[in-house]
Amino acid sequence: MQQFTALLTGVGKALPQKVLTNADLEKMVETSDEWITKRVGIKERRIAAEGEWASTLGLKAAKEALAMAGIPPEQLDLIVVSTTTPDTVYPSVACLIQKDLGATKAGVLDISAACTGFIYASGIAWSMIRSGLMKHVLVVSSEILSSTVNWTDRDTCVLFGDGAGAVVYSSSTEEGRGILSMTLGGDGTECDILKLPNSGCRRFPEHQGSFIQMQGNDVFKLAVRTMSECATEVLTSAGLTTEDVTLLIPHQANIRIIEAIATRLKVPAEKVFVNIEKYGNTSSATIPIALCEAFEQGRIKKGDVVVFDAFGAGLTWGAMVLKV
Ligand code: ACO
Repeated sequence: MQQFTALLTGVGKALPQKVLTNADLEKMVETSDEWITKRVGIKERRIAAEGEWASTLGLKAAKEALAMAGIPPEQLDLIVVSTTTPDTVYPSVACLIQKDLGATKAGVLDISAACTGFIYASGIAWSMIRSGLMKHVLVVSSEILSSTVNWTDRDTCVLFGDGAGAVVYSSSTEEGRGILSMTLGGDGTECDILKLPNSGCRRFPEHQGSFIQMQGNDVFKLAVRTMSECATEVLTSAGLTTEDVTLLIPHQANIRIIEAIATRLKVPAEKVFVNIEKYGNTSSATIPIALCEAFEQGRIKKGDVVVFDAFGAGLTWGAMVLKV
């Protein structure tokens, strides 16, 4: 039987123009640039303007990714969008993007896996392509976290930002390239340490409004452990070691989480992509935005080995190895 692999053929990103700096936050809550920089590594983040939604940012990123791939939208077989902040539950963000792209033949769905959403969406793309069912899949990760942040809560409001990233995966019979391995995991028993109450039909009278609730320390420890384990697992199943890795692109939640993972994996700092200082945590969008910037900066070329590694609410986690 013919073996198919999912090659990365395009990447794109979209970020709102509006910048919210740590100095701006100092005027809103009792915090300091020094605390945020030292504890989290963020200097500024982007905030969506009126009329900017997961669908509009996602569309911009998708157009860039398709242009790089050189694939007309009509050739897309599937659009998968990961988001925790859809414009509406239905129509899905994927449907809205499909409409504006004119991707008339594409299947469309949104998925919910919080910050791990990009890896889960890539997993769907990989399965569809590997099985021979599909040729071109667009994955979009788009998040408007500013709409879920309590701007009077210093514990969380300094951490998050808005943005979108997109990739195109295309079917190929070339051996040894494309997505080489992946792991997906989760633990619903830890669902209470990171949650967005009142975001579905269930009401939680103990929570006013619908804002991110987080037990930061617990999240921190679990993130370091699971992301280290995931990255090791996907490298082993691809028959590789950290020596083979050109670039590790971890979810950008906290610079100290990223450094702890790099230390555990013994990956030197120059092989770890970090842009958290500019955008904060944009949930599932952090990895494709970082991937796009890595290309723009010439840090990735054909044949390089890139590891994506993520952790998020749910809890969810996952990692994958991609040979570009
Ligand atoms: N400015 C100033 N001081 C602050 C701030 C702030 N913005 N936030 C908290 N503090 C204070 C606390 O009140 C506390 O003060 P105290 O010692 O007087 O009680 C002190 O700083 C230390 O607080 P901790 O919560 O212990 O700080 P910690 O070092 O754990 O950092 C943080 C908190 C940044 C949230 C960290 O735990 C973290 O990054 N956790 C992981 C977050 C994460 O990964 N989120 C991603 C998931 S999001 C998703 O999946 C959708």
